[in-house]
Amino acid sequence: LRNFPFFQDLEEDDLDKLSPLFLTRTYEKGTDVFREGEPGDELYIIQSGIVKIYRDDGVRDVILAIFRDDDFFGEMALLENEQVRSASAQTLEKTTLYVLKRRDFVSLVYQNPMISLRILQTALDRLRKTNEMTTDLTMRDARTRIMKMLLRLTDKHGILQKSGVLIDLKLTHQQIADMTGTVRETVTKVLLELQNQQVILVKKKKIYICNLAEFERLVEA
Ligand code: CMP
Repeated sequence: LRNFPFFQDLEEDDLDKLSPLFLTRTYEKGTDVFREGEPGDELYIIQSGIVKIYRDDGVRDVILAIFRDDDFFGEMALLENEQVRSASAQTLEKTTLYVLKRRDFVSLVYQNPMISLRILQTALDRLRKTNEMTTDLTMRDARTRIMKMLLRLTDKHGILQKSGVLIDLKLTHQQIADMTGTVRETVTKVLLELQNQQVILVKKKKIYICNLAEFERLVEA
């Protein structure tokens, strides 16, 4: 927990008091942590693993975000008046979460105004990303949307390697389609094109962007 950005402004003493409030819980790959519309009274911090935040109508998913260690989620149901989950959360790998109950979260926030500020900053950053994605959906073609999504994924999931960057996620074409408002066939076609142009490589189901600067130029073009 010490390394978690949320708590970077806390003193050691405060951190020591905090640790017992957190439970840990481990989920197998493909498990729902919660579903959209359920009442929620816990906040989650990812200790290890990967979680997708999505909405669905039973037929299709819309993936809003993919989080990994040090990310938190589930704050909205705790802070909003509605108190229900605004989206579902599911593990994409075996995942261990720190769990904080609402009353502990609320007293923590009361006692440490800086934590509220950190949560607000993160929430605004997510809003900015969602705004970008919404704009892309209406103004960009599928190929550009997919390329922009790959670029966005490098923020959180990218590992720099030489002049390129590996996106450290095993994503299916369907999942990329669910992130970009397109269909699986289109993702397959676009990724093949990008591979043929040697813009990306696929290594063990992970996408490697060969030259980041060049990729950014291509997206802008
Ligand atoms: P909550 O509504 O409690 O449950 C779903 C969680 O997903 C929500 O809290 C946020 O933590 C997260 N979430 C919801 N919408 C988005 C979004 N657009 N981008 C990133 N995270 C989100």
